[in-house]
Amino acid sequence: MSQAPALPTAVIILAAGLGTRMKSSTPKMLHEICGRSMLSHAVHAAAGVSPEHIVVVMGHQRDRVKEAVTNLATKLGRPIETAVQEEQNGTGHAVQCGLTALPDDFAGTILVTTSDVPMLDTDTLIDLVNVHDQHPRPAVTVLTTTVPDPTGYGRIVRNPNGEVLSIVEQADADPNELAIQEINSGVYAFDAKMLRHSLQLLDTDNEQGELYLTDVVAIARKLDRPVRAHRLDDAFVVAGVNNRLQMAEVAAEMNRRILKHWMKEGATIIDPRNTWIDVDVTMERDVTILPGCQLHGDTYVSEGAIVGPDCSLTNVHIGKNAEVIRAHGSDAVIGESASVGPWAYLRPGTALGPETKMGTFTEMKNATVGRGTKVPHLTYVGDATIGEYSNIGAASVFVNYDGVNKHHTTIGSHVRMGSDTMYVAPVTVGDGVYSGAGTVIRRDVPAGALTYSDAPQRIVEEWVLQNRPDTDAAEAAKEALKKTKNKPITPENES
Ligand code: UD1
Ligand code: MG
Repeated sequence: MSQAPALPTAVIILAAGLGTRMKSSTPKMLHEICGRSMLSHAVHAAAGVSPEHIVVVMGHQRDRVKEAVTNLATKLGRPIETAVQEEQNGTGHAVQCGLTALPDDFAGTILVTTSDVPMLDTDTLIDLVNVHDQHPRPAVTVLTTTVPDPTGYGRIVRNPNGEVLSIVEQADADPNELAIQEINSGVYAFDAKMLRHSLQLLDTDNEQGELYLTDVVAIARKLDRPVRAHRLDDAFVVAGVNNRLQMAEVAAEMNRRILKHWMKEGATIIDPRNTWIDVDVTMERDVTILPGCQLHGDTYVSEGAIVGPDCSLTNVHIGKNAEVIRAHGSDAVIGESASVGPWAYLRPGTALGPETKMGTFTEMKNATVGRGTKVPHLTYVGDATIGEYSNIGAASVFVNYDGVNKHHTTIGSHVRMGSDTMYVAPVTVGDGVYSGAGTVIRRDVPAGALTYSDAPQRIVEEWVLQNRPDTDAAEAAKEALKKTKNKPITPENES
């Protein structure tokens, strides 16, 4: 297990670039992978190191990035500073800008990471710091890895003794250097003092005319300061995302690892290739996830629950032994041993109590359903409180909207409501009430009453024979009437 760093640390996260290769109106670092923006992944990894400072360097669309940073600071309950890089003159320049947010006398270790390496985790950063802390403490320790196709990355140039000499960018590399498969991850641990000093010495004498942070390595060597590389075996941890193809590849790998984690923790995932689980989802032991599920946000699955097939749930708390089949939902609670679906839609504010049933083609919103209550079929429950052990008949509608405002319906316990009941809110139905099928409830119903709408049912005999002659319906009716001999067929209506 990784140990906490020995020296004070600060983390600078570079996030000022445009992300041109994403071809998007959303800045690259705000694109989401497994439930977090890439910036959020970077900040979470950094926060895990418990550094004194986290600084996000912003440039393009900094209003949106700043808002994301503010939200992350609130979520993580710690300050996150920001620095602005007005013009994107390269990663070296970006770090110079980041340093302005740190105290002038900050001494210790400065980690530099980027907002486009979403799989980078806290343990890897702590390992990097620990390697960096080994005596003699170097000017910089670069996190590297070896990849089959190094295209686009900076190459790690070593001397025959294996010592790191420099990092050469793709655009500046000669054929020999291009063949090097050890690449710069863009993640480093720097000695703060050395970093400040070396950044002064950068120049733009390169293909891209930028101030490259990577040149700090060669500068340190020139100053006779040791440089170290910490080489990772697992290249995915530092896979960079520059376009949507890479984004999909990294997302697939991150998802695979999340699923692996939960399977090791005792979850049965029947079809890992067809299951997506966000990083912030939690699962207890002995849950079963059937194929085609996407669990997002802070979704929580309690012991023994069975989810799927085909559920898409965001921020849904699923109770012990609940069963959720073909459901779509967000910001909802499903109680212990509740049964949901197939084909159920749980909108925000749905709270199903224990042993409840929310059945087929049922939609709920801002609704609290008490223990043991059943809403089995074809029903909309909006803005309602329903007591315990009640039964809501099929095809009922909680008529909550008057065209301007939403109103609340309150229903008691142990009620037995008939099919096709309309609850015209605001309205209250007392405990133990019964209702007839097709009732429109406009007035409050006291406990224990029967309520029904008694519009008379009319029957117009032989209407079909006369008004829809020659139809299949008329023919069928004719046959039936012949057989039952209820009515002789007269020559007039014989067609
Ligand atoms: C960079 C490295 C390369 C490394 C690769 C790893 C340099 C010169 N090159 O290349 O060696 O292999 O990352 O993924 O450092 N940024 C700013 N301001 C700028 C320029 C960039 O904030 O002026 C930020 C970007 O938003 C991004 C990060 O720095 O988060 C890296 O920039 P990017 O353009 O992606 O660099 P790469 O070409 O990937
Ligand atoms: Mg990059």
